[in-house]
Amino acid sequence: MQRVRVRLPARQGYTIEIGAGVLERLGQVARQSLSPHAQRIALISNRTVFDLYGAATIASLRAARFDVAHWLMGDGERYKSLRTAEHALQFLAETKLERSDAVVALGGGVVGDLAGFAAAVYLRGISFLQVPTTLLAQVDASVGGKTGVNTSTGKNLVGAFHQPRCVLIDTHTLRTLPRRELTAGWCEAIKQGAAGDRKLFEQTRRFLSGKQHIFEEEKPAVRLIAAQCAFKAKIVAGDEREEITRTDNRSRRILNFGHTIGHALEAVTGYKRFLHGEAVGYGMLAASEISMRLDLLDQTEAQTLRDVVRAAGRLPSADDLDQRVILSAVAADKKVVGGQVKWVLLEALGRARIVDGREVPTRIVRESLRAALRHNHEHVR
Ligand SMILES: NC(=O)c1ccc[n+]([C@@H]2O[C@H](COP(=O)([O-])OP(=O)(O)OC[C@H]3O[C@@H](n4cnc5c(N)ncnc54)[C@H](O)[C@@H]3O)[C@@H](O)[C@H]2O)c1
Ligand SMILES: [Zn+2]
Repeated sequence: MQRVRVRLPARQGYTIEIGAGVLERLGQVARQSLSPHAQRIALISNRTVFDLYGAATIASLRAARFDVAHWLMGDGERYKSLRTAEHALQFLAETKLERSDAVVALGGGVVGDLAGFAAAVYLRGISFLQVPTTLLAQVDASVGGKTGVNTSTGKNLVGAFHQPRCVLIDTHTLRTLPRRELTAGWCEAIKQGAAGDRKLFEQTRRFLSGKQHIFEEEKPAVRLIAAQCAFKAKIVAGDEREEITRTDNRSRRILNFGHTIGHALEAVTGYKRFLHGEAVGYGMLAASEISMRLDLLDQTEAQTLRDVVRAAGRLPSADDLDQRVILSAVAADKKVVGGQVKWVLLEALGRARIVDGREVPTRIVRESLRAALRHNHEHVR
């Protein structure tokens, strides 16, 4: 088992505990991290995850003498809505949750974001614990305190910063995760190393090139996920609220590497073709092609990134998409600041650079996009 401590300036930090089979420790961990007055736990999950891990979760909490009530939201991004949040808040009220009680989120990023948001606004904020069960949520979504829901005008437009009291990551839960969800999670993991930490990138690459990525071997998986969490925690601690004026290579914004094109790909395909992480996979390739064409990034580095993205798993094809449509979707993204796209590019694997859109000619973006979207062709023999 590994522990990662998240330190937050001007606020109490929290611990992320990572291990194979640690779900049974949840009750104990909750007792340690919650107020001594905590009595009730409101568990939020969805049917898929609850059928797999609900019984073990509840058993562990009850063994630590909590009263547990549970409520299941719909499974899928479309349920990450204000409507679902309202139902969740109703559930918290009916459970008679008090200020010292807590919400537990058991599931992927959708459950974590929604349950975290409900916990952030219920009684103006009560404690919540994250038990992320997807790779993406374990390495990314559960760390950092961003919670929220989607609205009809866009994704994650309504939300709150609300840090969990603790995060418990059981790598055993990844054994039941569908292959595409794993690939999507790996893409975000690759992103974190590529954008900010060369050693982490190498560790991720080694893991993916070995046979361990089916999680038969526990130790390397636990170590890697812990390293990923530690990286994200460090970036978050240095820039908790994603300061909009910061453009340095330690700002939280570097975590948007691959997301400018990634979001555009999701939008132009109506959020149906790609999982978010898969779109980020293409987005990273496009950003590295741009970096190479601007002479920021070495060719061999770009090739290494391509190889690692390939090792993460097959991405849905993308070469039929109209580049002009993708480019207009880029301009409409919320990451645009003051009318300008801020590209997160690479100077090297592990070192990002934030570049103003005016410094990147459209021709280069178009060429880079074309090259990146052909990624699959080299894949099929
Ligand atoms: N808060 C943040 O900082 C942050 C960061 C990144 C992403 N996100 C958000 O996270 C969401 C995506 O999260 P996700 O990729 O985890 O998707 P998800 O929560 O939709 O989970 C993916 C699918 O896997 C299923 N599942 C979950 N755990 C499983 C398991 N162990 N075994 C089998 N099936 C399992 C889920 O029911 C779902 O069908 C998006 O809404 C995104 O905006 C938030
Ligand atoms: Zn992402």
